[in-house]
Amino acid sequence: MTFPAVPSSSAAPSPRAERPQAERPRAGRPQDRRPASPGSQLTRTLLLLLAVTALWCLAVFGSTLIDPDRTVRHFFKFVHIMALTLGFGAVLAVDTCGLAVLLRRRSPGFATRVAATVDPAIWIGYVAIVLSGLMLVPDLGSVPMWFKLVAALLAGLNGVLSRGAMRALLAVPRGTAYTDIPRALMLRVVAHASVSQAAWWAAAIIGYFWA
Ligand code: HEM
Repeated sequence: MTFPAVPSSSAAPSPRAERPQAERPRAGRPQDRRPASPGSQLTRTLLLLLAVTALWCLAVFGSTLIDPDRTVRHFFKFVHIMALTLGFGAVLAVDTCGLAVLLRRRSPGFATRVAATVDPAIWIGYVAIVLSGLMLVPDLGSVPMWFKLVAALLAGLNGVLSRGAMRALLAVPRGTAYTDIPRALMLRVVAHASVSQAAWWAAAIIGYFWA
């Protein structure tokens, strides 16, 4: 796929006339939103990193202030597992699409649109799993539990940092072949997907066998 030619003459025709129906912006699609300035993107990323860290601190240190009874814990263990199903399930769906791109079975555009669509489900699942974890009163004297908690924090921070790569992929014109995507961007995407998989699997396995 080659990129569409840009008209050379200075009297460029009106942008609306130029773009075929398929490319006309549809409200709400991430790829049609006007890109935010680099400064405001950095501020937004720093605020989101702060929010994930604050959520994690609330869950870990807030859990030392409560002592819910068995019934409440049982209920929040159910919430914990359902949040895992939603959040980690959506992560697995995105990374399966990513693998399909690497195996040249799906276009990068398809995988990126799936990622952008299920992104809210990942974050709802993540926030719910961390807050329900607070109600499960983790044993902060246990080393495996700390490995799990650090993996949980890493899953969130990596999720925030991967949004930049997703925005860059969403800006790639439709139909662009995987081989035409800048190598540095593909390496960033694969690195984020690998960290995401490692962090979620680590938290889930430690949570199931050692929590
Ligand atoms: C990505 C983040 C997380 C994942 C994937 C995860 C996953 C799991 C899993 C699979 C279990 C086993 C459930 C079972 O035995 O049926 C579990 C249990 C547990 N998790 Fe998490 N968890 C996460 C975050 C947290 C956080 C942030 C906390 C604490 C603040 C936490 C506290 C606990 C506790 C205390 C248990 C044991 C519950 C019990 O057996 O009574 N988890 N977690």
